[in-house]
Amino acid sequence: MGVHFTRIWDFEKEEILSLIERAIEIKKNGGLEKEFSGKILGLIFEKPSTRTRVSFEAAMMRLGGNTIFLPTQNLQLSRGEPIKDTARVLSRYLHALVLRTYSQATIEEFAKYSQIPIINGLSDRFHPCQILSDFMTILESGKDPFKTGVVWIGDGNNMANSWIELAAILGFPLIIACPEGFDPDKEVLEQAKKRFSAKIEVLRDPKKAIKGAEIINTDVWTSMGQEEEEELRKKAFKEFQLNKELLSLAHPEAIVLHCLPAHRGEEITEDVLEGPNSVVWDQAENKMWLHMALLEYLIK
Ligand code: CP
Ligand code: NVA
Repeated sequence: MGVHFTRIWDFEKEEILSLIERAIEIKKNGGLEKEFSGKILGLIFEKPSTRTRVSFEAAMMRLGGNTIFLPTQNLQLSRGEPIKDTARVLSRYLHALVLRTYSQATIEEFAKYSQIPIINGLSDRFHPCQILSDFMTILESGKDPFKTGVVWIGDGNNMANSWIELAAILGFPLIIACPEGFDPDKEVLEQAKKRFSAKIEVLRDPKKAIKGAEIINTDVWTSMGQEEEEELRKKAFKEFQLNKELLSLAHPEAIVLHCLPAHRGEEITEDVLEGPNSVVWDQAENKMWLHMALLEYLIK
């Protein structure tokens, strides 16, 4: 059983599937009986967030618990207090902690020294909670990723790395279309193939990748922390824009996912984001239901 959720591979296949099933059930029931009275969730964020922060806080409050939002700059961490000291102290006050960081190593160090569950709310390397609620959205839409596979168009970033981990552990085919030099994490990809014999292809041609696809994902070209590379990235990813023309090669009833925030006119066009194939608003909502299921699982 996973005590922490620092990356998808902290959980077994069965745990992942039952978490998603539980999130769908909680959503259908419109919530859960309040059972987290007296429980406190902390959220340490080094980077901005709208969805992850608010959906976790709303999830905890809907469960009857409380939250404390802790921007890193307000903590002694920002003045050099070691992670191992912070983690042990916060474990005495809180019942779980969500972290959004630059380095994945920060989250892992917290997990090593915490006596409470540590949840990855995004790092430069992974965004595991997002991928779970995205998978929930796919299942809810009636699509069968095990049959059709999933297509990723764009940067081989934190989202792509978590998709690789999910595809590997659950066993569905994944195609990643990204320009050369913007591949997903090599170690994650190698482990996925070695450990799980995962069917993951990395292609350079977005048209080939999207042909007949039923489940299509994209994300920003410039992730948080990469702002200096923005101009370079805009050039490198030009052919990877999810626009009407590219989408016309996919299955007519394909669903389009984007974790948001979206940069209209860059990785996705307004008409695709707001069009009939887009499921992005349900996708954003599902973060809250999934986080309720995750908190229930980790804190109880
Ligand atoms: N999708 C997502 O993680 O959004 P935020 O950056 O707003 O949390
Ligand atoms: N890849 C994006 C995801 C934002 C939710 C980033 O890291 O900025």
